Amino acid sequence: MRTAIYPGSFDPVTNGHLDIISRATKLFDKVIVLVSVNPIKPSSFSIQERKELLIKATSSLENVEIDSYDGLLIDYFNQKKADVIIKGLRAMSDFEYEFQMAMANKKLQGEAETIFLTASSENTFLSSSMVKQIAMFNGDISAFVPNCIHEQIKLRLKR
Ligand code: PNS
Repeated sequence: MRTAIYPGSFDPVTNGHLDIISRATKLFDKVIVLVSVNPIKPSSFSIQERKELLIKATSSLENVEIDSYDGLLIDYFNQKKADVIIKGLRAMSDFEYEFQMAMANKKLQGEAETIFLTASSENTFLSSSMVKQIAMFNGDISAFVPNCIHEQIKLRLKR
């Protein structure tokens, strides 16, 4: 049984994340989507809210589990005896940051391999912070977030 962990802030989950999750479910027996804490990045949604949105967005996918962890990703990886860490890459601009994290995780735990899935072309520009900005100014985010949570995100971010 091959288990992948897909960690992120998911603040909130977007169609770009959902695309990576659904493609990862075809490659691994189990995909744990982990709401992780980046202590130096302020968030708009609570961990609980982010988990609830992810649960709704992934309800049609069978081999997905949603969890959260307030600690080092690598400690969670070891606890779960996971096989790989999955990350999405949108553009070259993501590469340096993601490369640093993959290297740091590998330094902390030599067995921790990070696998990158490239974003689908229609999602290369998409980010949670862009979705938040558009929603805060009452713009239309329906093309950027899963349909089933679109209204909830819109209402939550409306100023
Ligand atoms: O979606 P993001 O903000 O790019 O995700 C970054 C995240 C949350 C995956 C990263 O900050 C993380 O792994 N946080 C957990 C704490 C940790 O292990 N930090 C060291 C990673 S090098």
